[in-house]
Amino acid sequence: CGIIGYCGKKNSIDILIDGLKALEYRGYDSAGISYLHAGGVVTHKKKGRVENLAEEVEKNRKCCPVIGIGHTRWATHGVPSSENSHPLFNREETMSVVHNGIIENYQEIKVYLKNKGYQFLSETDTEVIVQLLDYYHKKTSDLLFSFYLTVSALKGSYAIAVISSDTNKILATRKDSPLIVGVGNEEFFLASDKSAMIKYTNRFIYLNDGEFAIIDQQNVVITDGLGQSIKPEVVKEELTLEEIQKNGFPHFMLKEIYEQPKIIQTVTNNYLNGNSASELKELFKDINRVYFIGCGTAYYAGLAAGALMEKYFPQEVKNMVASEFRYSEAKVDEHSLVIVISQSGETADTLAALRLAKKRGAKTIGIINVLGSTIAREVDKVFYTLTGPEIAVASTKAYTGQVLTLLYLLHYLAHLESRIGEEKYRAFINAAQQLPGQVTMMLDAISKVEDIAKKYQAVTHFFFIGRQLDYYSTLEGALKLKEIAYIPSESYPAGELKHGPLAMIDEKTLVVALANNDNLMMKMESNIREVKSRGAKVLLISTSRQLTEVSDDFLQIPETEEYLIPILVNVYQQLLAYQMAKLLSRDIDKPRNLAKSVTVE
Ligand code: G6P
Repeated sequence: CGIIGYCGKKNSIDILIDGLKALEYRGYDSAGISYLHAGGVVTHKKKGRVENLAEEVEKNRKCCPVIGIGHTRWATHGVPSSENSHPLFNREETMSVVHNGIIENYQEIKVYLKNKGYQFLSETDTEVIVQLLDYYHKKTSDLLFSFYLTVSALKGSYAIAVISSDTNKILATRKDSPLIVGVGNEEFFLASDKSAMIKYTNRFIYLNDGEFAIIDQQNVVITDGLGQSIKPEVVKEELTLEEIQKNGFPHFMLKEIYEQPKIIQTVTNNYLNGNSASELKELFKDINRVYFIGCGTAYYAGLAAGALMEKYFPQEVKNMVASEFRYSEAKVDEHSLVIVISQSGETADTLAALRLAKKRGAKTIGIINVLGSTIAREVDKVFYTLTGPEIAVASTKAYTGQVLTLLYLLHYLAHLESRIGEEKYRAFINAAQQLPGQVTMMLDAISKVEDIAKKYQAVTHFFFIGRQLDYYSTLEGALKLKEIAYIPSESYPAGELKHGPLAMIDEKTLVVALANNDNLMMKMESNIREVKSRGAKVLLISTSRQLTEVSDDFLQIPETEEYLIPILVNVYQQLLAYQMAKLLSRDIDKPRNLAKSVTVE
């Protein structure tokens, strides 16, 4: 979800809508704004894209409200609908709130307020914030004090902004969810992400967890939760045209990491309907062997998809890096299907592998990002990953697009051929539809990943370990760190450690342990204990808290369907590599010795 706020002298409506468009990558199943007008609070909400909201607002445009808040939503609690859209307001519609994150104790607060006679209009966790604020406000007649009281009762993660007809101010706070104040000339902005404000200002105050911002047209006051003022640090950022193209992100890589929720949505929109199914079925006819071929990240995306194929399909599955395949004695004939994966569609080795496969009579499929690229044109059938231009050399969003495209296609085919039942198929689709919101929440934990990176800044080498599907994810995790941070990092199946690599483990090692397979938890626990007893530190990335006791740090993956886990794991791995590279002042977008598109052998 994304938050925007404006308090100044201009018409806030245009600034809010404009900001919401910039934040739309954070969620787009509904959007809304509230502003102060004629002594009251006016709210517009609309299901769907910001564009729909803009049309709605235009139809009922009020003159020149100068204070307002807005929100783009990715539904967590409550289906996408107007009622559940933000802003949410109290019964009298005198106060309005927008919120990112999850209020974990909302049921408790709801029951408490219901007992006091409050009625709830939405299914959201957010509504308890505004209703509790209303409750305290009626008791104390002090809005700011009531806001402090309300926030102190909340458990979970949040970035919150509030307006009320009581005051010409925006009240805001955050915990584990980003919120930035933009400082203009007699005007102030508030947003989840500075890309929504860079058109208007390049001076920002980054709110820390537990800090409050009280914004009026002349001033912004930052306080702690007890109302004690904190001197804010206003950071001036010199933005060049190129950086604006990065939408305010310091690097294309980070921008591209943050584009993933939107990309997941695009891939879903494109592949959910299964239009390609009949063609796909045709291509699989008489096939007894399937190859997934690619280089670098694209090869690893093939590994994740190959694992699924192996489970549900009768064909023999082989994953090969293109530069090996092209010189190998691989058994490729007219009963083979060769799936080449490439972001650029131009990688020389992958192209050569494709040409060899065709020469030997294989059928070919391309999982390609760049439209009209050489490989896209030469394969029998291309499926585009629709990821948009990927500029940073280290591939991030392309991996997500590749894995998800393949998973959709394979699930669809498996369902069509009755290899998986309706229930399993639906479970996958439902889980895939949750991904954008889950990834957005994970991205909001970037500061936690930054803290971990700082803690392990002195580490001399990394080991990424995991089993089965997790092992495939470790390959991409270690690659990212090598590519952009230039830190020696190895990837191992966890059970292989004792056959050699354990000799390298010492107190300067960080072991990133992926543990997402319930059946193998105890095995992973033993592997973690093995490295810990040799002095290594362990960062656990898992859907479960089961192994946190034996680990030093923990990043939790939201619950999802088994084959989608690599996408989520990789988001943290991308952030970790990015933060390590940043601390080491690497040239993140253009790492030394590498190129984005390798068109030579
Ligand atoms: C280069 C890039 C990698 C990429 C690989 C394959 O080495 O630096 O990020 O994974 O090529 O590229 P492709 O365009 O074929 O996916």
